[in-house]
Amino acid sequence: MDFNIDSWLNLVIRWFHVMAGILWIGTSFFFIWLDNVLQPEAEGGKGHVGKAWLFHGGGFYRVDKAIVAPASILDSLHWFKWEAYLTWLSGFALLIVVYWWRADLYMIDPAVAPLSATQAIGIGLATLVIGWLAYDGVWRALGERAPKLALGISLVLYVAAAYALTHLLSGRAAFMMSGAMLGTIMAANVAMVIMPNQRKMYAAATAGGEADPRLSYQAKRRSTHNNYLTLPVIFMMISNHFSMTWGHAMNWLILVGMFGVGIGVDHFLNSRDKGSKGIGYVALAAAFAALIAVMAFTAAPAPPASAANARASAPVAFASVQAIIATRCVECHSAHPTSKLFPIAPNGMKFDTPDEIKLAAAKIKLMAIDTQAMPLGNLTQMTEQERGTLAAWLAQGAPVPDGSTAR
Ligand code: HEC
Repeated sequence: MDFNIDSWLNLVIRWFHVMAGILWIGTSFFFIWLDNVLQPEAEGGKGHVGKAWLFHGGGFYRVDKAIVAPASILDSLHWFKWEAYLTWLSGFALLIVVYWWRADLYMIDPAVAPLSATQAIGIGLATLVIGWLAYDGVWRALGERAPKLALGISLVLYVAAAYALTHLLSGRAAFMMSGAMLGTIMAANVAMVIMPNQRKMYAAATAGGEADPRLSYQAKRRSTHNNYLTLPVIFMMISNHFSMTWGHAMNWLILVGMFGVGIGVDHFLNSRDKGSKGIGYVALAAAFAALIAVMAFTAAPAPPASAANARASAPVAFASVQAIIATRCVECHSAHPTSKLFPIAPNGMKFDTPDEIKLAAAKIKLMAIDTQAMPLGNLTQMTEQERGTLAAWLAQGAPVPDGSTAR
């Protein structure tokens, strides 16, 4: 078996990235939950926020939150930042190894926009930088005076970004870049707002004084934003396995819908912790989920025009289907791929024999007709006419003549 450095790098970095992400998201949910259950106490003292008792691992924990601290405890203070930084760094590395390394395959869909690899990578980088600058700018300018307006503008900007990305990049890259943009905002929130503000609070405590309470307030706000972004980002990170989402003709709306579902569910969880019902947000999440369901069922992507009356047209000979698959797919999807990029059949999908083709018919329809995600990057230059033939054969029930045997 050939050694494939891309795949091994992909595996190692991805493993690390998922682990770091679990730690980060775990702490995010833990602290948001903690803040929501803290009970203020009358005798709490200066800067007191609240207290809670926790029970875990066979012991009682007494947690006491304050926005000031005595200088005596500062040496033993635990900070939380590496989860965020390592998640971002490994995610960025993965973006390069998987998407930018082979931008021609994964970033670009000539049917969406005929970009060069450099342009596609440039758009990717710009998305990360501009996404952060725009979000941070809005919240610095309006966060204190008009937080609702800032929220509204942020949401509109997100929808615009989702629309732009899906109209520039391949569907899966657009979803991934949208997730990377939000992930970058989250990590930058830690590096550029939460940590600097906490360092100022720390310095004030060292000097035996009191920091401006707004520092705490701003850090908490960004930390809350991060929590709300986790569910949408996780969807975007796993979305590349689900071509019916990014491969949909209206994929930008699915992306926005999934974002809405994530935010709604997260808000429900948080308001439940606080003791309120958050039912409005369940409704919000349900509405977005319903939107996606409607899109999935009714607005199935249109097959190539020639397939429209496929059932009525003359039966397609299996031989011509097999010839198309042999020239356009088998380079990668074979027990012995000739592709240098994929020395092992991707996802174990092989189309060497009629049986293998028949068995995979539904997946072939999804990947090559409904979403046109295959051939990957259309490297093998499948034509619309060939898709039409394949679609017609699939619409006729994907018949394989009796007695056709393995080659
Ligand atoms: C240049 C290599 C290449 C070519 C050519 C190619 N594929 Fe793929 N295919 C892949 C890769 C890589 C994957 C793995 C999925 C991924 O990483 O996106 C894949 C995955 C698939 C899957 C599996 C999806 C799943 O859910 O497991 C199907 C089905 C598929 N391809 C069908 C086709 C068909 C049909 C053609 C020809 C029309 C084709 N592919 C041509 C590289 C290729």
